[in-house]
Amino acid sequence: MQFSNLSLLLLFLRGSWAAATLGDWNVLNTTIGGRLLQGVPFSSPCFSSLDGHPTTPNPAACAAVRSGYDDELVRANVSGAYMITQWETCQSSAQQCLLDFLDAQNLSPSLPSQTCNSGSVPDYFVDVRTASDVVAAFNFTRKTSVPLVIKNTGHDYKGRSSAPGSLALWTHNLKNISYNANFVPEGCSKPSPALTVGAGVQWQQAYQFADSRNFTIVGGTDRTVGVSGGWVQGGGHSALSNTMGMGIDRVLEFKIVTPDGQLRVANACQNTDLFWALRGGGGGTFGVVLESTTLVSPVVTVQAILLSITSPSANLTEELYSTMINNGLKWADDGYGGYVSGGTAVYLTPKLTAAEHTASMAPMIEFGKRLNATGTGIYELLEFPTWLSFFNVFTETELEAQGPPVGNSLAMASRLVTRANFQTASARSELLNGLLAATALTPSLLFDITAPSSFPGDNTTSISPVWRDAVYHVTVKVPWNWNATTEEKLSAYELVNTSIDHLRAITPVASYSNEGAVHEPEHETAFWGNNYERLLKLKHQYDPEHILDCWQCVGWKPSSPRFSCYL
Ligand SMILES: Cc1cc2nc3c(=O)[nH]c(=O)nc-3n(C[C@H](O)[C@H](O)[C@H](O)COP(=O)(O)OP(=O)(O)OC[C@H]3O[C@@H](n4cnc5c(N)ncnc54)[C@H](O)[C@@H]3O)c2cc1C
Ligand SMILES: *[C@@H]1O[C@H](CO)[C@@H](O)[C@H](O)[C@H]1NC(C)=O
Ligand SMILES: *[C@@H]1O[C@H](CO)[C@@H](O)[C@H](O)[C@H]1NC(C)=O
Ligand SMILES: *[C@@H]1O[C@H](CO)[C@@H](O)[C@H](O)[C@H]1NC(C)=O
Ligand SMILES: *[C@@H]1O[C@H](CO)[C@@H](O)[C@H](O)[C@H]1NC(C)=O
Ligand SMILES: *[C@@H]1O[C@H](CO)[C@@H](O)[C@H](O)[C@H]1NC(C)=O
Ligand SMILES: *[C@@H]1O[C@H](CO)[C@@H](O)[C@H](O)[C@H]1NC(C)=O
Ligand SMILES: *[C@@H]1O[C@H](CO)[C@@H](O)[C@H](O)[C@H]1NC(C)=O
Ligand SMILES: *[C@@H]1O[C@H](CO)[C@@H](O)[C@H](O)[C@H]1NC(C)=O
Ligand SMILES: *[C@@H]1O[C@H](CO)[C@@H](O)[C@H](O)[C@H]1NC(C)=O
Ligand SMILES: *[C@@H]1O[C@H](CO)[C@@H](O)[C@H](O)[C@H]1NC(C)=O
Repeated sequence: MQFSNLSLLLLFLRGSWAAATLGDWNVLNTTIGGRLLQGVPFSSPCFSSLDGHPTTPNPAACAAVRSGYDDELVRANVSGAYMITQWETCQSSAQQCLLDFLDAQNLSPSLPSQTCNSGSVPDYFVDVRTASDVVAAFNFTRKTSVPLVIKNTGHDYKGRSSAPGSLALWTHNLKNISYNANFVPEGCSKPSPALTVGAGVQWQQAYQFADSRNFTIVGGTDRTVGVSGGWVQGGGHSALSNTMGMGIDRVLEFKIVTPDGQLRVANACQNTDLFWALRGGGGGTFGVVLESTTLVSPVVTVQAILLSITSPSANLTEELYSTMINNGLKWADDGYGGYVSGGTAVYLTPKLTAAEHTASMAPMIEFGKRLNATGTGIYELLEFPTWLSFFNVFTETELEAQGPPVGNSLAMASRLVTRANFQTASARSELLNGLLAATALTPSLLFDITAPSSFPGDNTTSISPVWRDAVYHVTVKVPWNWNATTEEKLSAYELVNTSIDHLRAITPVASYSNEGAVHEPEHETAFWGNNYERLLKLKHQYDPEHILDCWQCVGWKPSSPRFSCYL
């Protein structure tokens, strides 16, 4: 296909003009074997215009968009779809192409009077299959100055996998997966059992593969987050991280194309600086990962408790939080991980027997019995023979249903709560008050009990060291729908900020780069602590020309036009 003058004009009208000619795009498409895809917003088949140009709605494609609007499996398959939808839009110009999150069948957002704009959806996507595809894109962006982004699953909460007028490297179709009982990182000598996955592999596929071969891998709680992209490069927390470590503790090797065009193998024995940077320094910063290899462990038996308040009240929330806080250190030491939000709690441990679990959880069981006796809630003790059997039930629970929604726009902020917050009666009371105040402002406050509390690490990762002292990673979020005004969006960003301030006041400067506030104050310290300086040096070494850049990423240039859509 040749690029029409019209599409060139549209690029110009979108304000995304960079020095790319039709010839440049065609040459790129040829160089990568014809795998250049036009960037199109997910909901565009429902609209009768695109970027100011009339289009014909496609009823069948639109019906699929409406029925899959909040379905992560559907969105993950579509290059122009993002899980958190403001990152499909241009917030600063209020240009978008969204449907009603609460009722995707609602016709109002796509009436002919409504426009569909590409917003932050990249102009083109490279359907990446080889290292050479990545090099071609580096060459292209060097020549044309068109901003380059990396998109894997599009789960990012901070808009780091989209940008207006950009070219995206879409890693979704790198789906290879293999097991090696004696994997030896290149240049090393010690073998370990390991799983190697292409950058497009997502947790559901990886968990099923691992389970079918009777081993455990440590990953997130969402089926479609990627194994090798932003998740692991930013840290990667799991309900098993307490005893088994975070993603960065278990990764053994990355294959990565750095901005100089070299395909490198980074591990503990070669390219060790780069390996360190990729273990926490963040995605989209040092190169394009094509593949990662991660340690596997024998099958674990998971002891769990599920407790749910069915008649919510302020008193019961306070009682739940007090029970958690008064036992926080003991449960951290007993290997527990889990999630608590909206009056539902899931705690699990791979470390205890059923009898030890019942004994350790006695205070939670007491609380559950009182809920049951007063008809205000339920609880259940459960044993799962494998991580996957837990995961399959978990994805059905109410907690997951209230969990991070996809297909919606939202503001988020997070904080790490450390052991010091539990050590004295006054610290515990301060923590309780801080959490209750934050919950009052943002009721969907989520406790990720996913810190590596019993896993000191080997001091070769680049996340903030505060993670190793942490007991909870707490997130708050405020959603908005398609027709929110700019003022409403701004107040959502402010509200999460004000809410998390109640924890900022009593914790070290530490947040999770993948789930922190878009406007995180002191973000370098909050995400990386004393590792930041070395990360910055490595950024300058591997990407001196800023071929890669993303919001509050190491060495970012806030003035870059790629950030023009942020509020
Ligand atoms: C519903 C939901 C559940 C979540 N659950 C968890 C959880 O349990 N634990 C947890 O730790 N986090 C969780 N997260 C946060 C998650 O870790 C981040 O959203 C992360 O950025 C996702 O990475 P991705 O590659 O899948 O997504 P993308 O949005 O595609 O990419 C995110 C970032 O990584 C970069 N990147 C992607 N691929 C590559 C690559 N191949 N090479 C280099 N850079 C790359 C992108 O440029 C971007 O900067 C969750 C998020 C959501 C929306
Ligand atoms: C790239 O080339 C392929 C094969 O020639 C073609 O099908 C595709 O439409 C082209 N991509 C774009 C964006 O024009
Ligand atoms: C996503 O794509 C894969 C591969 O093409 C396909 O098997 C799967 O059914 C798709 N899932 C959805 C929900 O569209
Ligand atoms: C990238 O550019 C270099 C230097 O001009 C060239 O040698 C190389 O062939 C190009 N690679 C691709 C895949 O375009
Ligand atoms: C994926 O695996 C197949 C079969 O082993 C192999 O031919 C192919 O090169 C692999 N692709 C990548 C991108 O590693
Ligand atoms: C996994 O374990 C089950 C039950 O112990 C056994 O039946 C099966 O053969 C094992 N599978 C593999 C691939 O080892
Ligand atoms: C809530 O707690 C307060 C103080 O602890 C108590 O006075 C009040 O009766 C409780 N309310 C209910 C409905 O249990
Ligand atoms: C909860 O109460 C009901 C009776 O009201 C009882 O049948 C059930 O066993 C109780 N559940 C637990 C977990 O105690
Ligand atoms: C971790 O490494 C840094 C830098 O090499 C060193 O200063 C620090 O003491 C180490 N910490 C531990 C716990 O080993
Ligand atoms: C947005 O639309 C919903 C119905 O879809 C309506 O209830 C609400 O008032 C609208 N909000 C604004 C700000 O227009
Ligand atoms: C967020 O809170 C911090 C600390 O309280 C404050 O300095 C900053 O201005 C706030 N930012 C926004 C965007 O509200």
